[in-house]
Amino acid sequence: MKVLIVGSGGREHAIAWSVAKSDKVDKIYCAPGNAGIEEYAECVPIGAMEFDRLVDFAKEKGIDLTIIGMDDPLVGGVVDAFEEAGLRVFGPRKNAAIIEGSKAFSKDLMKKYHIPTASYENFSDREEALKYLETAKFPIVLKADGLALGKGVLICNTYEEAREGVKTIMEEKKFGDAGNTMVIEEFMTGREASVLAFCDGKTIKCMTSAQDHKRAKDGDQGLNTGGMGTFSPSPFYTKEVEEFCEKYIYQPTMDAMAAEGRPYVGVLFTGLMITEDGPKVLEYNARFGDPEAQVVLPRMKNDIIDVMEACIDGRLDEINLEFEDNAAVCVVMASEGYPVSYEKGFPIHGLESFKDKEGYYCFHAGSRRTEEGIVTNGGRVLGVTAKGKDLKEARKNAYDATEWITFDNKYMRHDIGKAIDEA
Ligand code: AMP
Ligand code: GLY
Repeated sequence: MKVLIVGSGGREHAIAWSVAKSDKVDKIYCAPGNAGIEEYAECVPIGAMEFDRLVDFAKEKGIDLTIIGMDDPLVGGVVDAFEEAGLRVFGPRKNAAIIEGSKAFSKDLMKKYHIPTASYENFSDREEALKYLETAKFPIVLKADGLALGKGVLICNTYEEAREGVKTIMEEKKFGDAGNTMVIEEFMTGREASVLAFCDGKTIKCMTSAQDHKRAKDGDQGLNTGGMGTFSPSPFYTKEVEEFCEKYIYQPTMDAMAAEGRPYVGVLFTGLMITEDGPKVLEYNARFGDPEAQVVLPRMKNDIIDVMEACIDGRLDEINLEFEDNAAVCVVMASEGYPVSYEKGFPIHGLESFKDKEGYYCFHAGSRRTEEGIVTNGGRVLGVTAKGKDLKEARKNAYDATEWITFDNKYMRHDIGKAIDEA
């Protein structure tokens, strides 16, 4: 069969790698893709938001299955566009992707269906938000309602900071229209975990757990980013936590979406905070995590095509998801200055070191092929993943492998997975 993947990041590279392993697949296309994805897929210069061109391309090439990796097209309704054209596509429809597209929606959904999450209020009026903050408990969390590349969340320690935050989101519109509405929520403490799950509208089956490192600098300092590195599984996501989440979070979320007339098909990403009072939902995403996919997919034993087709056909209950009994760590190699400003266009050396190395992967995020070779082309440039028998070994292997790569202004965190030493 012929598969089209939509997106251009490290996540889509991991998806392409996974799809390429399926013996059902003869040809993979990726729109727009990147220099690393080219190893598995023919990359076509169509943007992820160009729905008409994507649909025309899929029809013209006789694509059997399209997989949407990114949040923007999902929230914008790309799945509906494919379905209307009679094409098979993996991902939630617009009316379900809203679970990521609007934090106010997802918070209201959780409240209505008693799914554990931080207490909150939604605001579309700046003055009312400020009034609420006058008597609030600090620290407190401000969130732009819409998509903001994982950066629309501000943790404020004082009223002054929160006032500035309201200004940034609602007045200066730093996150654009994403800030027309804002969620103000209780600050939670605990361990974070990311759990990705396949969903067919009724059944939800979780993949192995992971943990991201969202801040730019070591010791969880610096600004929030799209994610600087991940490990899988999370030792803090115990059997007990998992059982609680299955009973009170995952299935209730599926049932809630179905009851609202928004059946959820695709990958649902639940960001959890494991607090002293039990696990609570931080956020939902309507897709694989990036860079969570880069540690979860290399450990998955199933043929990803079988699982995705079962989701589309509503027979996920027939699938037994299986993961290797090992661990993986992904270290993001970024451009110095990310997530604020950084230079691009520096040649990347050492990529060939990963060729035929079992258990080591170099997933490209921001890279571009030029006549002189592959160069840096983004804030997050590469995700270096390695497996190991346990997290410690995987962590050592991943950091060893980051040494194989050089490029000017190379920047990475040195403490990805350090928390596992405390587990
Ligand atoms: P989100 O995009 O909603 O997952 O938020 C990004 C990051 O901000 C999360 O991964 C947490 O580290 C942090 N965060 C979000 N909401 C809260 C909260 N209520 N309490 C503490 N930290 C939070
Ligand atoms: N790594 C977090 C995300 O994909 O949103």
